[in-house]
Amino acid sequence: MSDAVIELDSVVKRYQSGEEVIEALKGVDFSADLGEMVTIIGPSGSGKSTMLNMIGLLDTPTEGVVRHDGRDVSQFSGDELTEERRSSIGFVFQDFHLLPMLTATENVELPSMWDTSVDRRDRAVDLLERVGLGDRLDHTPKQLSGGQQQRVAIARALINEPDVVLADEPTGNLDQDTGETILEELTRLKEDENVAIVAVTHDDQMLEYTDRTVEIVDGVIQ
Ligand SMILES: Nc1ncnc2c1ncn2[C@@H]1O[C@H](COP(=O)(O)OP(=O)(O)O)[C@@H](O)[C@H]1O
Ligand SMILES: [Mg+2]
Repeated sequence: MSDAVIELDSVVKRYQSGEEVIEALKGVDFSADLGEMVTIIGPSGSGKSTMLNMIGLLDTPTEGVVRHDGRDVSQFSGDELTEERRSSIGFVFQDFHLLPMLTATENVELPSMWDTSVDRRDRAVDLLERVGLGDRLDHTPKQLSGGQQQRVAIARALINEPDVVLADEPTGNLDQDTGETILEELTRLKEDENVAIVAVTHDDQMLEYTDRTVEIVDGVIQ
């Protein structure tokens, strides 16, 4: 048995695009452990986002197996997949994906709205304090800088205490210095929360922070 919190085993993903079939992943094996940051690099169109979508249960493989904590998720019902995604995965995107009319605290609370326990707001505030935004709780996204917005997004990704945080180009819209503080934040949270972080990047700066790098070219891990 492996300790991997997530695993892709011989995953093939084909997209039908009109008459054409695009094989975006050609038998990909991948895994990540708790407390580890793995960075996926590769040219545009090589299959990086498709890999994250498989790991994050946003889409299903054409062939092969996706495992969370050793469990084959292809056996899960739609409801079980939604629940697994909600409880185990946090997402961070290049363009932050915050809701403009909600405050920082409300944005962080949002993925936990289904949860009836009373301490959602406390946890949101705690997470915002931990990413250095304790004095920005009631600010809306447009009252925050890009780096601050990404820190809100990181706090939001952690609200449901996930095992895995998936980050697609998390520093892509940030300047070098801000990108660096975000990477420091992710590294610190990885250790504090003992999550696996799987990040996709073009940013060489990120490779200084990662524990392991995986390269994909044309749907094949190198
Ligand atoms: N929904 C889709 N339908 C058809 N083709 C897609 C779809 N999503 C991705 N692709 C194709 O799959 C390949 C891999 O895409 P992607 O995973 O987005 O690459 P990357 O993130 O590395 O730039 C590309 O050729 C892309 O055009
Ligand atoms: Mg992509």
